[in-house]
Amino acid sequence: MKDTMGLFKPLTLGAVTLQHRVVMAPLTRSRSIQPDSIPGDLMATYYDQRASDGGLIVGEATNISITSRGWLGSPGLYTADQVRGWKRIVDRVHGKGGVMFAQLWHTGRSSHVAMTGGEPPVSASVDPAYWRNPRHLVSIPGEWASPSPHRALTVAEIGAIVEDFRRAAERAMDAGFDGVELHGANGYLIDQFLQDGSNMRSDDYGGSIENRSRFPLAVVDALVSVWGASRVAVRIGPSGRWNGMSDSDPVALFSHLAQSLNRFELAYLHIIEPRIGGSELVHAGQGAVATEQLRAIYRGRMISAGGFEADTAAAAIEQRITDAVAFGRYFVANPDLPRRLREGLPLSDYNRDTFYTFDAKGYSDYPAWNSSQFV
Ligand SMILES: Cc1cc2nc3c(=O)[nH]c(=O)nc-3n(C[C@H](O)[C@H](O)[C@H](O)COP(=O)(O)O)c2cc1C
Repeated sequence: MKDTMGLFKPLTLGAVTLQHRVVMAPLTRSRSIQPDSIPGDLMATYYDQRASDGGLIVGEATNISITSRGWLGSPGLYTADQVRGWKRIVDRVHGKGGVMFAQLWHTGRSSHVAMTGGEPPVSASVDPAYWRNPRHLVSIPGEWASPSPHRALTVAEIGAIVEDFRRAAERAMDAGFDGVELHGANGYLIDQFLQDGSNMRSDDYGGSIENRSRFPLAVVDALVSVWGASRVAVRIGPSGRWNGMSDSDPVALFSHLAQSLNRFELAYLHIIEPRIGGSELVHAGQGAVATEQLRAIYRGRMISAGGFEADTAAAAIEQRITDAVAFGRYFVANPDLPRRLREGLPLSDYNRDTFYTFDAKGYSDYPAWNSSQFV
C-alpha cells in the first residue's frame, strides 16, 4: 500500500481546522436548476456524498451576478433563492463534519449573450482574436458556441464588479459557508486582468504588474471586508494557458501577486500546478510557475492542485512543498476519496462525457466503495 499518511494530518487554514488534507477541488458540473442557476436537490446529494469529517470542499465556481455568467448550469450567489439552495447544501456538508468554501466567479470574456441576459461580455481589454478562435467555446442553452464579442470595462464598471463580489461574499455568509475562495485562475475575469496577453489597458488597471494586480487585489480587499482575512482564499493558475491566457513574464507577475497577498494573512493560496491546463495534462513550458517557487515568497498556507496521485500528494506535503492537495477528477468518480486514499482502496474511473451534462448520470451515481460491489 502507498504511504499516504502525510495526507491525514490535521491542518489549520486561517480560521478553520481540517482533519485531513484531501481537499475537493472546485468542479463546475452544470447541474444547477435553470434558468435561474439555483442549487437544488441533485447538487445537495452530490456534495453530501463527497463531504467528510474535517474535510474541505471548495464548491464549484459560482457566479456573482447574472452578467458574470458564462457556463450553462453553473450556480449563482446573487439571488435569495440561490442563497436558500446553497444553504441546504452547506447544512448537509456541515452535518457530516465537513468544511465548505464558496468559489466566487466572474467569467469575463469567456461568455455569451445567451448567458448574460443579453449584455455583451466584458474583459480588461478587447481582443477579437479571442472570440474568433474556434478553440474557445462556451456552454449555452442547446450547444457549445463561440464566445460573443466582448468589450472593455470602464473604471467605474470595475468598481461596480468589486461591489458585486462583495455582495456575493455576503450572500455566501448568509448561506452558511465557512469562507470564500476567489477564482483567479483558468482565464476568467481576474486572470484576464492579471496576464498581459489579455490586459492591454493603459490606465491604472493595465501596463505594469502592479496595475494589472490592482483589480484582483481590490476584490480580495472586498472579500476580506466581509469575512475577515482568515476565511478568504485566492486560487491562481500561474501557468495555465487555457482560455487564451498568456503573459510575457509569469514568474514576475505571480511572484508579485503572492508577495502582495502576504499582507492579508488569508486562509490559503490555492495554486494549479503547471502540468495542468484546464483539466488536461500538458507539458509545462518555459516560465512555468509552480507551488515550489511561490512557497519561497508566500508566507501563508498553500493548497496545490493538478495531476496529483495519492503518493505524489503525500510526498509534496511531507516535503513541505505544499500544505494540502486538491483533487479534481478523482473526486468526480470517487465520492469517498479521502477514505479510499487512507485505506489504499482502488479508485473508480471518471467519465469525461458527463462532466458537464445536466442530470444524475455521471454525477451523483458514482458509488462509494463497497467491497461486494467491486469483486
Ligand atoms: C469537470 C471539471 C470542472 C472544473 N471546474 C473548475 C471550477 O469550477 N473552478 C476551478 O477553479 N477549477 C475547475 N476545474 C479545475 C480543477 O479544480 C483542477 O484544478 C483540475 O481538474 C486539476 O486537478 P486534477 O488533476 O486533480 O483533476 C475543473 C476541472 C474539471 C475536470
